[in-house]
Amino acid sequence: MTTATVRVPAKINLCLGVGPVRDDGYHPLATVYQAVDVHDEVKATATEDDEISVTVHLEADESAEVPTDGDNIAVKAAHLLRDTTGTEAGVQLAIRKVIPVAGGMAGGSADAAAALVACNEAWGTGLGRPELERLAAQLGSDVPFLLHGGNAMGGGRGETVSPVLARGSYYWVAAVAATGLSTKAVYAEFDRLNEGSNVAQPEVPDDLLAALRAGDAEALGRSLSNDLTLAALSLRPELAGTLDIGLEAEALGAVISGSGPTCVFLAADENHSLDIAMALAGAGVCADVIQARGPVAGARLV
Ligand code: C5P
Repeated sequence: MTTATVRVPAKINLCLGVGPVRDDGYHPLATVYQAVDVHDEVKATATEDDEISVTVHLEADESAEVPTDGDNIAVKAAHLLRDTTGTEAGVQLAIRKVIPVAGGMAGGSADAAAALVACNEAWGTGLGRPELERLAAQLGSDVPFLLHGGNAMGGGRGETVSPVLARGSYYWVAAVAATGLSTKAVYAEFDRLNEGSNVAQPEVPDDLLAALRAGDAEALGRSLSNDLTLAALSLRPELAGTLDIGLEAEALGAVISGSGPTCVFLAADENHSLDIAMALAGAGVCADVIQARGPVAGARLV
């Protein structure tokens, strides 16, 4: 039996511009993603029967709910790859989960990206990166970026990934909430809050791009932004307190990651990152605190 294991990072959105809802129900996005070193691992073992199955081992939050049937996005990824390539093999997927579930850090999308790469290897189906990227886009808006990794701009509904000039390595602290938020629910709340108003087409702020080009952490901290902030705060008002705790600990910037509820803080260096982590843990405002570095590579065979 052939086995392949893939490590895949989480993402944060340094900015997340959201436009008016499209006819297909998605929102146009202008975002800059950064992959950070919080990793899930997906192991694919090819089998001779035609079953596609998954087991999930939760490393961080054992109470999180991850489906282990056809609703699991890694299983969907395996089916899509099999249907596309016509292979007849089955696969056993084993996910080792560290990325917060439903946290706005693309944990599900990461597993889908990893499953594509792992199954492609275990089955020997030989698709190249561009073909995998096309399948990734069908699985979810964030999945192509998790293949790509590093820093990248996201357009379309998030699935069009293009490189961005960037320097530097950044220290992040993530405050993980006890329960996740549904991405769909946060976008629906965004629509409700904006009903009757003209939502502009989104753009990536120039000051954020300049900060990344210069590798200037202080400027990057000042230019973090997220158009889903009010929607996420409307569903989880207590996140305002979490953001305040990090800012009181003099984080260079604070932002909700994606659709939340994870709040991320930019630190000046490792010691500062520890100070922010301790302030968040001490205030008891979140279930878990994670220190992370970015950017890192996307889904890769190990
Ligand atoms: O693409 P993905 O499956 O991750 O999206 C989950 C949900 O988030 C979608 O069903 C949609 O409701 C919402 N979404 C959106 N606009 C985007 C991305 C996601 O409305 N650009």
